[in-house]
Amino acid sequence: MKKLIVANWKMNLPALKPWKGFRVQKKTEIVICPPFPYFQNVKGNLPGFKLGAQDVFWEKSGAYTGEVSPAMLKSFGVGYVIIGHSERREWLNETDEMINKKVKAALGAGLKIILCVGESWVVRKRGVSAAKNFVKNQLARDLHDVKNKSGIIVAYEPVWAIGSGHSDKPSDAAEMARFIKSLFASSKSKIRLLYGGSVNDKDAASFLHYKEIDGALVGGASLKVRELKKIITQSYHN
Ligand code: PGA
Repeated sequence: MKKLIVANWKMNLPALKPWKGFRVQKKTEIVICPPFPYFQNVKGNLPGFKLGAQDVFWEKSGAYTGEVSPAMLKSFGVGYVIIGHSERREWLNETDEMINKKVKAALGAGLKIILCVGESWVVRKRGVSAAKNFVKNQLARDLHDVKNKSGIIVAYEPVWAIGSGHSDKPSDAAEMARFIKSLFASSKSKIRLLYGGSVNDKDAASFLHYKEIDGALVGGASLKVRELKKIITQSYHN
């Protein structure tokens, strides 16, 4: 399976000039998720990269100030959307119920969703099975009543690893990846599984090397062109 590298730029716009001339090889899929107003900059400057959004709303249109619908994203050439990022869960009080509505609306509109799940440090301290249990329950709530699982990409992002400079142990992330995939074993469509949380150019290969891990969701390191290029290159060899 092709590896998938998703760059989550959060509320940042890195310089795009240094990308000139960089061509993505067909064996990897690269998705850039810039802030909404910068889709055009990415389209114009990074040919060969796909476009993703960092969030979406569940309604089609109406009086929802500040929100963007799945169809609006699609009309801009956006194919992917991150849903349930822990920063939104934590700071904006996004609930599983809201995430579930977003998941259904985005899938219904034909977008691929990158659903972020992961345990806090408080949970992880209790052990691996507590973390697995947490993630299992989170997935059950976020995907409640979602019949067709095609187009679902799950990003396992332990909350304590995000932006901390301390990524998970690759073998632990692979174990969680195996576990998450086993939860979808009875579903007809296979999900793809990404690891996210402080992935950088030094350790990306050690995650991508596991066959259970189909790619990476990269935050901070994706803002540095040299680092992201190195991560992309490592994905060619895994
Ligand atoms: P990070 O962010 O790579 O900076 O830890 C990952 C994410 O928030 O998706």
